[in-house]
Amino acid sequence: MKIVTSASDLPHGCAFVPTMGALHSGHQSLFSLAAEKSQKVLVSIFVNPLQFENYDDLAKYPRTPERDTQLAEEAGVTHLWLPRHEEIYPKGFAKLSAGPLGEMYEGAARPGHFDGVVTVVSRLFDLVRPRYAIFGEKDFQQLLLIRKIGSDVEIISAPTIRESDGLALSSRNARLDSDARARATVIARALYAAVAAPDHGSARSAMREVISTEPSFTLDYSQVIDEENFSDATEVTVNARAIIAGWLNGIRLIDNMAMKPRGQ
Ligand code: PAF
Repeated sequence: MKIVTSASDLPHGCAFVPTMGALHSGHQSLFSLAAEKSQKVLVSIFVNPLQFENYDDLAKYPRTPERDTQLAEEAGVTHLWLPRHEEIYPKGFAKLSAGPLGEMYEGAARPGHFDGVVTVVSRLFDLVRPRYAIFGEKDFQQLLLIRKIGSDVEIISAPTIRESDGLALSSRNARLDSDARARATVIARALYAAVAAPDHGSARSAMREVISTEPSFTLDYSQVIDEENFSDATEVTVNARAIIAGWLNGIRLIDNMAMKPRGQ
């Protein structure tokens, strides 16, 4: 695996997985998808300050550089890029707006977050010029906004990887102590209850009911939305998706699951 420290050494036309590090097996599944698409798999690790709405969250974001390098190498990554801040954000760079979709749900809870995400991703795309880029469905609103950036990069989505008890893998899970880790399964349990419900209305009630069994989880939102635009779903179609976000021990956790239309 080649460690790239200068943008002039980037392998253009590759399959690209942008990350913020603290890699786990969810990332490894993105790397495997990338390897199916190209012999050149580039992973970037850049903790993007623009997408953190407060300094505390940025400072506490887990950083595990040695483990990340080992994990990337084991997963068959051919190029690992550790960009410098000035390379991504040269003096006078233009900050992009994620538009109205970027102000809903995660964007409402984290003002400016998605502006930071679309800015860094388009900057990374400009420098890398990849053929493919792979993003996880766990951050579904982010995935939709990246699809809307309008580049000629083919965006590939990767299913969420879960622990055996349903908890979606996330770099933030590293900040949960064992008690909070056990309680965090309430999110997946609520999503499974939504998927099992007979219609969108009962799916919403089922999520709230399950969430209410775990008082240490502070719910921000639970909803069934249309995954094309995040408007409220009015029926369970193939586009309906249950979404949940909230805080546990001060750590923000989000997850989502595709609903199943009746008979499927
Ligand atoms: O999902 C992430 O890890 C980040 O939001 C991304 C896409 C790497 C941009 O910083």
